[in-house]
Parts: sequence; C-alpha cells; structure tokens
Amino acid sequence: MGTSQDLAYWDNRYKIGGDSGFGSKGDLLTYKAETINEIIKEFGAKSVVDLGCGDGNLARLIECEEYTGYDISQEAINIASKKRKGNFTTEVPEGEFDIALSIDIIGHITDKGDLRDHLNYLKKHKNFIIYAPKKIEDPQIHENSFNWVQMLKKKASRIIPQKYTVEEFGVFNGSYSEWYIY
Ligand SMILES: C[S@@+](CC[C@H](N)C(=O)[O-])C[C@H]1O[C@@H](n2cnc3c(N)ncnc32)[C@H](O)[C@@H]1O
Repeated sequence: MGTSQDLAYWDNRYKIGGDSGFGSKGDLLTYKAETINEIIKEFGAKSVVDLGCGDGNLARLIECEEYTGYDISQEAINIASKKRKGNFTTEVPEGEFDIALSIDIIGHITDKGDLRDHLNYLKKHKNFIIYAPKKIEDPQIHENSFNWVQMLKKKASRIIPQKYTVEEFGVFNGSYSEWYIY
C-alpha cells in the first residue's frame, strides 16, 4: 500500500526536518485527538491501528491499550516511534483491530490502486474512522482529487462536520477534512 512517488515525497519531507503538516499541530491537533479519543471510548476499542501515523504528534495523544502505527515512510516511523509506546511498522499490519484510523491520509494517496487497497483494508474492520476532505478540488503534487466516498461504497453511520473550517480559520489553522464514522 503506497507508491514509490508518495514514499519518495514523504521520506524526503521528514528527512529534511519537515513534519506531517498544519493539521498535526496546535488547535487542530488537539481537536483531532479529542474527537478520536471520544470515539475510541464510545466503541470500547482496546486495539487501534493508525494508518499513516506520520510524525507521531497525533499518535502520542491517542488513548488506547494497544497501539499500532503504520506508515509507508521509514523516516516517519523513526520519528513517531520515539513519541509513544506501541508497535510501529512500514509493513501493512495483519489481523483485525478494534478500530482502524485513517486520519488526514486519504487525500494524500496519489495512486488510485493504492487508495483502493487502503479503503479495502479499512473495510475489513468493524469500526473505522476516516478524517478527510470529501474531495480536493485543486490538489497539490502530493494530493489527489479522487471521489473516495464513491469508491468506498459504504455508508458512514455518522458524519461530523469540521470545527475549524478553512472559511472561518484560514488555510493554516483550518481544515477541509470531516469525520466519517463507520
Ligand atoms: C498529513 S500526514 C498525516 C499524519 C497523521 N495521520 C496525522 O493526522 O497527524 C500523511 C501521512 O500519510 C502517510 N502515507 C501516505 N500514503 C500512505 C499510504 N498509502 N498508507 C499509509 N500511509 C501513507 C505519509 O507518509 C504521511 O506520514
């Protein structure tokens, strides 16, 4: 799961001191962690697989008994694994977890086949959370404009709108992502 183009982009970004982006800092980070932790609690989930754990800023705030962080980038795994206890890997984690997380990943998978693999992996789980924009209208080089909602072919049990909208908070402190709970 993950093309060499995406891998090269993210590996290089982390290698030169970059991070997972504006969505993984400040108020947006706190908001993401609080929302995820509420849902983990609500589902009574003990084991969590975090797909695309990135620099671990979010990972370190996730409250669960068993945490597994997966990322295509070894650089990300090296950074994230220093920030919390858990299993960290660049190999797609096997088995089933109480809940699977796809947080700010879907818009970053630039190959349609990889995106399909990612969605199929999520669908193997009884419960999963997607935090992503419905569709990116004007994607950058490391983004896509696929209609993942249509590709997933599964109705969310709940959609939670973004609290920090770009319209109100701007591009650095706001986000186009919304919560899709399955
Ligand atoms: C914007 S960061 C998000 C990090 C973290 N989930 C967060 O919200 O703070 C996107 C991460 O997705 C990873 N990524 C890209 N394509 C992926 C794929 N197909 N599977 C897993 N991770 C992927 C990148 O390496 C990067 O670390």
